[in-house]
Amino acid sequence: MKRIAVLTSGGDAPGMNAAIRAVVRCGIAAGFEVYGVNHGYNGLIAGLFRQMGPRDVSGIIQAGGTVLGSSRSEEFETEPGRERAVKNLTGRKIDALVVIGGNGSQTGAYLLNEMGFPTVGIASTIDNDLYGTDQSIGVDTALNIALEAIDRLKVTASSHQRAHIVETMGRDHGYLALMSGIAGGAEHIIIPEVETTPDKIGAVIKKTYDSGKSHCLIVAAEGADWNAERILAHFRGKPELGFSLRATILGHVQRGGAPTAFDRLLATRLGMAAVDQLTEGKSGILLGLACGEIKTIPLAEVKNHKKTLDLKILAAAEKLAI
Ligand code: F6P
Repeated sequence: MKRIAVLTSGGDAPGMNAAIRAVVRCGIAAGFEVYGVNHGYNGLIAGLFRQMGPRDVSGIIQAGGTVLGSSRSEEFETEPGRERAVKNLTGRKIDALVVIGGNGSQTGAYLLNEMGFPTVGIASTIDNDLYGTDQSIGVDTALNIALEAIDRLKVTASSHQRAHIVETMGRDHGYLALMSGIAGGAEHIIIPEVETTPDKIGAVIKKTYDSGKSHCLIVAAEGADWNAERILAHFRGKPELGFSLRATILGHVQRGGAPTAFDRLLATRLGMAAVDQLTEGKSGILLGLACGEIKTIPLAEVKNHKKTLDLKILAAAEKLAI
């Protein structure tokens, strides 16, 4: 193996740059020529390759986003699109590809590997919904950003005796909402994994008011049936709840931060491990984290499983909020 390429795909996640840096520098140290692919799978199809040296990744370990750019590629979901991508790789005599990304991106990595092009994945998504890893790159940073927002919103909610709904990202997975809600001391947490009703939400708000608290902080996941907008619309102008309501949707703010120490270290370890695996001639695997250790799992297994959320801590949240 002589030449490897690296790309970032799907939603950007803080720490992607640290992973790119580790792949480039460790790859060069292992004797590879390393190529970056701009704009994810779209760039792979368009042939946007550039050779990268150690200085091309200087000063990026602390930066959010991805210096390679990313995309959600509809063309790559088609067979002709993937065939063009493989043609571009083999045409440049590239022997293997590293894909840094989440669920859709790792399905793409699996498909490339099935087409006979050696590919390894690095777990990266703020949603933490990727099967085969305890934690993905970007989760810790996104969580801390959500937490800072929750802390601030609690202050103003208290000053005005309000209930405040904070909506977190996470697509159809409740991890970010659940963990930021617990860490932020939320009075109520709403996630897609657990059904709720407006009556239940209203009852929590009223009970919180009656308990003498000065605010009611609700964290809702964007993928929950009852997201911020819907709750607000339902309860608008209902004084019987005690508190009046406000809502803040955190959205992409959660993705844009400088990576925490945890994410920089995780990304660096995963990038190093990806190069080690390629050096040993391994592919068709995802690099992830299990009980603090870097581990590999077949991409086929990742593709065929859905990550579930441990809900034990949600039950604790109700007790913690009395
Ligand atoms: O997968 C990461 C994520 O930020 C999700 O939490 C969110 O639902 C989605 O991406 C938003 O995607 P986009 O940036 O394409 O709007």
